[in-house]
Order: sequence, then C-alpha cells, then structure tokens
Amino acid sequence: MDLKSLIRDIPDFPKPGILFRDITTLLRDPEGLRYTIDFLTQKCVESGIQADYIVGMEARGFIFGPPLAYQLGAGFIPVRKRGKLPAAVHTIEYELEYGTDSLEVHQDALQPGSRVLIVDDLIATGGTAIATAKLLQKIGCELVGFGFIIELRDLQGRKYLPDVPIISLIEY
Ligand code: PRP
Ligand code: HPA
Repeated sequence: MDLKSLIRDIPDFPKPGILFRDITTLLRDPEGLRYTIDFLTQKCVESGIQADYIVGMEARGFIFGPPLAYQLGAGFIPVRKRGKLPAAVHTIEYELEYGTDSLEVHQDALQPGSRVLIVDDLIATGGTAIATAKLLQKIGCELVGFGFIIELRDLQGRKYLPDVPIISLIEY
C-alpha cells in the first residue's frame, strides 16, 4: 500500500518554511490505518524485537503505541510533557530550538531491566527520541528498539540514537 499518498503535506505549519507531514489523513483511512499497524508490527517481529513495554511520547506516540503494544502482547506506557502525569515521576530535560522542555514518566511504570521499545509517529532531529531513551536508561531499562511511522532523513536524527534496531515505515 502507498502510505505516502495518505499523508498530507501542509506548507508553513507550525512556522513559515516548515513542510508539515500530517498523519490525520492516514488515521482516518480504515485500510491505511490497519496496514500501518500491521506493517509496524511485522517489522518489529522481523527485527527480533522482544519488548515488555511500548513507550509512546505525547501526543502522537499515544496513537500508534497502544495498538502496537496490543499486537506484540506488551504493555503501553505514556511519556508525557511536564506536569501532566499524576503520580511521582522521573523527569528529563531536553533542548528545543529555543529553550528547554521536559518529558516525564511515572516512577512505578518501569523497573531496571524492563525491555522497552520507544514508539512515535515521526523522527525529525531525534531530540524527542534521544531524551526518551535517556529517561529510560536513567531507570536502568533495556532499550530494545525504536519504531516510527515517518523518518525525515535529511535531519539525520537516526545517527544520534543508541545502537538498537530503528524501524521507520516511510521516509522523506
Ligand atoms: C513531534 C513528533 C515527534 C517530534 C519529532 O511532536 O510527533 O514527537 O516532534 O521531532 P524531533 O525528532 O525533532 O524531536 P511535537 O513536539 O510537535 O509534539 P506534539 O505531538 O505534542 O504536537
Ligand atoms: N510533521 C509532523 N511532526 C513533525 C514534523 C512534521 O513534518 N516535523 C517535526 N515534527
């Protein structure tokens, strides 16, 4: 299936000069949605990834993480932006283009040695994925891979990630 044809390009969003790859048009297509989840699952299985948990980042990692976790027989754990999770959290700060932001995960969600696959809709600079990986490594988790629907190749985010399988379904 031609997944790219289901992704909509929006020029100048959220800022002038950015060509935004919009997945909402893929999500609303029943066959496209099913194919995307099945393809991501298949690639994880082929890569030999065995995960206890899928960790997905706010907001669009919450869309693809849970169905993948369901398919792989894993649990799903949300990583959220600052101040959203109700119980005690681990926090990691990361650099944005201007300033810093932070990501959080519940302290009791993961244990040292938990095998974790990080899932998001898209990797651009890799900043979000690297921060999440550092957060999990701080806890002592075993990072078993990354899964993305879209990879923006020119930004080379992949080269900053740890040496584990990195799956992406569509490249620009
Ligand atoms: C987008 C995207 C990834 C991240 C990728 O999220 O969903 O999480 O940016 O960019 P990076 O590789 O350069 O870190 P965004 O920050 O727009 O947050 P949102 O999903 O809450 O809108
Ligand atoms: N689309 C969606 N999210 C993004 C993009 C994009 O092109 N670039 C960085 N985050």
